[in-house]
Amino acid sequence: MKNIYISDLQEGQEFIDFFIVRASGIKIGANGKKYLDISLGDRTGDLTAKKWDVSPSEEPALEGIKPGDIVKIKASVTVYRDAKQLRVTRIRQVKPEDGVNAMDLVKSAPESGEDMYEYILSRAEKMHDEDLKAMSTTVLMRNKDRLLYYPAAMRNHHAELSGLLWHMKRMIMHAEVLVDVYTILNRDLLVAGVIFHDIEKLTEINSNKLGVSDGYTFEGKLLGHLVQGVKVIDSLAKELGVSEEKSIMLQHMSISHHYEADFGSPKKPLFPEAEMLHYLDIMDAKMYDMEDALSKTKPGEFSDRIWSMDNRTMYKASFEPGTKKVTDLRVSAETKLAPSTERNEHSEEDVDHKEESMENQQVLWNL
Ligand SMILES: [Fe+2]
Ligand SMILES: [Fe+2]
Repeated sequence: MKNIYISDLQEGQEFIDFFIVRASGIKIGANGKKYLDISLGDRTGDLTAKKWDVSPSEEPALEGIKPGDIVKIKASVTVYRDAKQLRVTRIRQVKPEDGVNAMDLVKSAPESGEDMYEYILSRAEKMHDEDLKAMSTTVLMRNKDRLLYYPAAMRNHHAELSGLLWHMKRMIMHAEVLVDVYTILNRDLLVAGVIFHDIEKLTEINSNKLGVSDGYTFEGKLLGHLVQGVKVIDSLAKELGVSEEKSIMLQHMSISHHYEADFGSPKKPLFPEAEMLHYLDIMDAKMYDMEDALSKTKPGEFSDRIWSMDNRTMYKASFEPGTKKVTDLRVSAETKLAPSTERNEHSEEDVDHKEESMENQQVLWNL
């Protein structure tokens, strides 16, 4: 039975408990000795763990530990480079008599796969463009089984049970709002772009039914989901008799959504819906990573370093949203009532260096 969760672990704490393996391998340290480098998770997050000085007799058992396995460990919590880490002294595979509930060990999207799938399908069915509607509903219905549990990544953002649907759903929620703000945007094309942009993660990465991935597929390694997406859109458009223009535009959204060549995009977006798709994608990924890091952080403190966000540490406010009073922050009434055009007055640098500006900004961000 599970007793302690990753989000509750404190430096120096010693414990025995169960975790799911997200990655594992034996490496050789600077001292020439072998050690187990393992990433462990439960429903509250992941942590890196090390078992130092692996002896030849224990090596075969440790080499048999694979992503998706459940292990029991005895460990203590250390801190390395501002991030918590586990020093493991004992580790073994789970046994049936341990009575572990796998769902306690798996990070999961906050909504059920079925509910998110129904929301996304309903948005696709609302499309006025019959071609984009047929493309979107078909790809969703054909892939429903795997969509319900698939993560959006092996690690980092949305690497969780039903993470791919959670990513798609929040991007569509944003898209539905932004098409009213930026009226140049074609809603159906943008929503179809969201549905197709990561759909081939289903074939790019492996996943078990708990949403735990042990790596990339052969096709995923050699092509990646942007190019795999092009293939799927092209053949589906031909099958459904969709025009070349719409098919190529959707394919362009797939290959350009990572924006930079270094991140796999051979072209930058060349029309507004493709440009916006990238912003929706990056915004959702970054917000996810911040939310994840802050969920393990106490109010008034900074998070562990976030690798995917330039190793920054994020601050968790000590006040609850909507509970602060402006007078508590000693901010003048004029600042509180500042017109919206003044909201962008402070550059990031100003916020870093001017305490007063920071207080003002905090008020404005929470209005
Ligand atoms: Fe992507
Ligand atoms: Fe994405």
